[in-house]
Amino acid sequence: MTPDEQKQAAADAALEHVEQGMRLGLGTGSTAAKFVDGLGKKVAAGLNVVCVATSEATHTQAAGLGIPLTTLDETPELDLTVDGADELDDNLSLIKGGGGALLREKIVATSSQRMIVIADASKHVATLGRFPLPVEVIPFGQEATRRKIKSAVTACGCEGGITLRMHDGDAFVTDNGNFIYDCALGRIEEPETLARFLSSTAGVADHGLFIRTADIALIGTPEGLRTIKVDKWHE
Ligand code: A5P
Repeated sequence: MTPDEQKQAAADAALEHVEQGMRLGLGTGSTAAKFVDGLGKKVAAGLNVVCVATSEATHTQAAGLGIPLTTLDETPELDLTVDGADELDDNLSLIKGGGGALLREKIVATSSQRMIVIADASKHVATLGRFPLPVEVIPFGQEATRRKIKSAVTACGCEGGITLRMHDGDAFVTDNGNFIYDCALGRIEEPETLARFLSSTAGVADHGLFIRTADIALIGTPEGLRTIKVDKWHE
């Protein structure tokens, strides 16, 4: 299977977890978009669900397919979120935010009873960190925040460049009006510790480490579908 076919296989497998009447979180990115496409077909065929999108892009896609949409204010508890990832390890710790939607993705995923990650085989790694870790910061005091991020990653034994994400010559702006620093750390040996440090850094809106958030990963591989399940509350 090509990477695109692997993403499709993962998205198709996730659709099998969707049941009548569910409240769903819809992820962002090329893999999540395949899931949303498939969901749109099921809705057209009579499936009754209500969904919260994790980005303006996904909201537009879902609305165009006639998928019923709500907000977390109207529907604060969801049954299932299906989303992609930039990296995932065997514990289902994730790096997300390559598409810039990490803050809403985390709010939606942590408002869901279950989260299924869908990915192609290239996303499954032994140690997180090859993909630069996105950290969303509020614009006020961003350089001071960048220095605090640097201190936090150093305290966690990581090092590497921390660069402001750019788009067409300007700082990339998230759906929330924030900026993103991408941290090229190479290896993150203790993602849970780094997540804690970053979460307690003033100016950081959120970071792309998703720890104990996903329950199941459905990974398309050249040999077929691979499933990883974890008990996210394990010690
Ligand atoms: C969006 O902000 C990200 O978290 C995406 O979920 C992630 O980048 C995966 O995207 P692809 O499915 O396009 O690789």
